[in-house]
Amino acid sequence: MWNYFNPVEIIFGENRFKEVHDALKNKNYIIITHPEEIFKKYSDELKSSSNPPLSIMTDVQPNPDYKDILELQKKFSSINESVDYILAIGGGSVTDTAKAIAAFKDKQEYLTDFVRNKKSPRVENPIKIIAIPTTSGTSSELTCWATIWDKEKNNKLSLAHKSLYAEKTIIDPSIMVDKPLGLTISTGLDALSHSMESIWNINANPVSASHAIQASKLVLENLPLLTKDLRNVELRSNIALACVHAGLAFSNTKTAIAHNLSYPVTLNYGIQHGIACSFTLPMITKSMVGIDSVAEERLKLIFNNNLENAADHLSEFMRSLEVPLNLNEIKVPVQEWNNIVDDAFLGERGKNFIGNKEAFISSAKSMGLY
Ligand SMILES: NC(=O)c1ccc[n+]([C@@H]2O[C@H](COP(=O)([O-])OP(=O)(O)OC[C@H]3O[C@@H](n4cnc5c(N)ncnc54)[C@H](O)[C@@H]3O)[C@@H](O)[C@H]2O)c1
Ligand SMILES: [Fe+2]
Repeated sequence: MWNYFNPVEIIFGENRFKEVHDALKNKNYIIITHPEEIFKKYSDELKSSSNPPLSIMTDVQPNPDYKDILELQKKFSSINESVDYILAIGGGSVTDTAKAIAAFKDKQEYLTDFVRNKKSPRVENPIKIIAIPTTSGTSSELTCWATIWDKEKNNKLSLAHKSLYAEKTIIDPSIMVDKPLGLTISTGLDALSHSMESIWNINANPVSASHAIQASKLVLENLPLLTKDLRNVELRSNIALACVHAGLAFSNTKTAIAHNLSYPVTLNYGIQHGIACSFTLPMITKSMVGIDSVAEERLKLIFNNNLENAADHLSEFMRSLEVPLNLNEIKVPVQEWNNIVDDAFLGERGKNFIGNKEAFISSAKSMGLY
């Protein structure tokens, strides 16, 4: 018995950015985007249109922090007209920031209650979101949650609410051709991690699993080719499609142990999210052998029906992308890693994982993590 749900309208294809004008016709909206110069052309196009935005907010840093969102709320409070839509043009950090503003608007105390006072998020009539992803990694455009970081308190929160799905997303692979190599690899691996995490997951169902298998295969086939041909729109399109499948998979399952292991690695050791949540995938895959026949069958479909070799295959794939695969390379001390593992298995995402800590530790050691 299972349910599946995802309400986001997906507009997919090369050069479809221009359809944003129709989507926003006669609507009051603001833009949230990255500060870098390459994003200016998108907001400029809207600024010079017959329906310009009420405000353009560019103060978004990678991994959006509580304090930065408070600042944006201040800016939001100075808008005098009602805002119907937020147009998010950027990676997961932009889309997640848009969700926080959509949810809490200018109510800084709501954000603080959620982040600092551990209260349930108070989300009342959130502003509608149109998401234009520029990274092909997080699939935040297809999920109803946002990651908010509280660096001062060394904490990471997941703002989740069923009204925070974007209304629509325009996925235009031509926007992604300027992504540099490192970002292309880390975001592609984030999509792979979301897919695999939705398979070894207590919430997996046949529809989420079929999206996850498709997504994983697309990343494994296309990411190595893309790293050698970064401006190839067809390969960008294949990875963007992988990211759609990944989003349709994990929007229904959430993530699992690889993500829970990743958060302290990002917070305390500065490792990019996509790398932090994927360097453990080979050892988690190995630890799945003999755990659950349904998950094993699904994983086999990704790896040419061979689960025994899947972990080594994945490890070679990641080595070819020059991803760090052991604690020395990640620069996490073993004692600290042991604490991270203990905490991760007890956390909410860790509990989504259908495997177990003992098998994970033994696989990690046998694969040379430390
Ligand atoms: N809400 C979710 O479902 C979800 C899922 C996974 C991760 N996340 C969160 O998303 C964040 C990471 O997002 P991300 O990996 O998309 O990166 P990002 O949004 O943090 O962007 C990283 C950098 O890439 C640059 N960039 C973005 N698009 C570019 C492009 N097309 N060309 C050149 N440069 C570009 C940005 O300017 C930025 O400096 C983390 O905070 C993570 O926790 C959210
Ligand atoms: Fe992720």
